[in-house]
Amino acid sequence: MQLVLHEWLGGLVVGLVGGSWSDAACPTCNPAGPILEVPDSSAGLRRRKRDWVIPPISLSENLRGVFPKEISKIKSSLSKEIRMVYSITGEGADQPPVGLFTVNRNNGSLYVTKPLDREAKDNYVLQVHAVSPDDYGVKEAPMEIIVNVIDQNDNKPIFTQNPFLGSVPEASAKDFEFMTVTATDADDPNTANADIRYSIISQSPQQPNPSLFDINPVTGGIRVKSGGLDRENYPEYTLLIQAADLEGNGLVTTGTAVITVTDSNDNAPQFEKTSVLTSTATVIVNVQDVNEAPVFDPVEKIISKPEDLAVETELIVYTATDPDTEKTQTVTYRVGADPAGWLSVDRETGLIRVRSPMDRESPFMKDGKYKALILAVDDDPVPATGTGTLVIVLEDVNDNAPVIEERSIRVCNKESTPVLLSVTDKDGPGFADPYTVELQGDSRRDWTARMDETKTGIILTLKTALKPGEYNIILRVYDASKLFQDNVIQATVCDCTGEYENCPFIITQHMNNYFCLKV
Ligand SMILES: *[C@@H]1O[C@H](CO)[C@@H](O)[C@H](O)[C@H]1NC(C)=O
Repeated sequence: MQLVLHEWLGGLVVGLVGGSWSDAACPTCNPAGPILEVPDSSAGLRRRKRDWVIPPISLSENLRGVFPKEISKIKSSLSKEIRMVYSITGEGADQPPVGLFTVNRNNGSLYVTKPLDREAKDNYVLQVHAVSPDDYGVKEAPMEIIVNVIDQNDNKPIFTQNPFLGSVPEASAKDFEFMTVTATDADDPNTANADIRYSIISQSPQQPNPSLFDINPVTGGIRVKSGGLDRENYPEYTLLIQAADLEGNGLVTTGTAVITVTDSNDNAPQFEKTSVLTSTATVIVNVQDVNEAPVFDPVEKIISKPEDLAVETELIVYTATDPDTEKTQTVTYRVGADPAGWLSVDRETGLIRVRSPMDRESPFMKDGKYKALILAVDDDPVPATGTGTLVIVLEDVNDNAPVIEERSIRVCNKESTPVLLSVTDKDGPGFADPYTVELQGDSRRDWTARMDETKTGIILTLKTALKPGEYNIILRVYDASKLFQDNVIQATVCDCTGEYENCPFIITQHMNNYFCLKV
């Protein structure tokens, strides 16, 4: 079968991979230019296993205009000789959502019938079938086509609560982070469409100065920016906060953070009158209890846990006791700062649980450790807050397969110079190098791949004089614990000898036309 893809509204990046070259005309430079064909599976009695790969079709969500829209054309190479009819099965074809994709039975044009919504479903796997309606028994093996739905920025950030409530002791040092605000965005987390930045729009009251706080644009952590907190005069602040996607330049949402300033012992006793005559008297001093903040035991608690714990797993009970023995006070717990949003704490018991999956390879980890602040608040009419630091040492789990850094390479097709590819793995020792590599499918026929001496680099060599053009090479890379993933490298093969610098021109495909490019 032959698959001809076209560019769609600037959003579809196409190419056909793993086909062989035949001698049709290339208009500008090469009388024997490329037509991509794929071997017939029905030729002969034995059915051949397909060993070629069709790159996924990428379609933008929320497409506008007239539907159905043609997204590609499928053609059986048998159709040159006999009439073939086409059908599709799979999700979006004969399985829900039924009829989202259709195919013209007679000529293989593939259509999408309405706009797609990535947040509802981000990819579809279709099987394409071609059979002869007249000559019973002639058919192609089904071909798989994957349609990936490309994100658009059609969701704005949403704050996870509104207002956010926090408290800060009035004697806090500059840069003390005491609360975190969080917004989520339903768009593709791998794109800027869901990359949120936080900012403070305004502070009320503006006394003693209008910028007492600042916010970490990435984590949403709110910190003390300058001195001047004074519970006796300004016991509460309201911040108007903003979350914007596209790294702060996209869709915007606003919310509020209400901050209670808690008491610290910052007022020294003052005599109301002074008097330059002296005498001696006995003074009895009655010490009155004042409200003190609960104290965590210990103030910094270090625990060690595997990184792949399930959500809701209990981590530890971390509690504080209240020094105010005169009054019976109830202490309740809150998460103060939790940069990655991984934790929840039971208000009454101080039991800390996993709220969202933790990851040792997260940017919020420092030296293999994650730090969160837990707050204990008593129920005095003027509540006092104690802060404890929970340090979680995350133990590595092999949750990342090795990745090849290079996405594309360029080589000559004769006596080609070997290419060195570098491999990385986010996991730590034991779950990363030494790596091993295996070529997959068709790539095995034309290329050789082996690890270099350090076992962190792949030496890739073209061994067949391939026709010039673009090829996909599939390399399966294993880490030390045999976790693997397939990496696809795009190779531009040029008609030249030795170093790629010797390449006079390359042939490239754009909207079904072939062009020669000077290198
Ligand atoms: C198939 O037929 C439809 C309807 O007549 C037409 O719009 C489309 O362009 C045709 N596709 C091909 C590949 O000829």
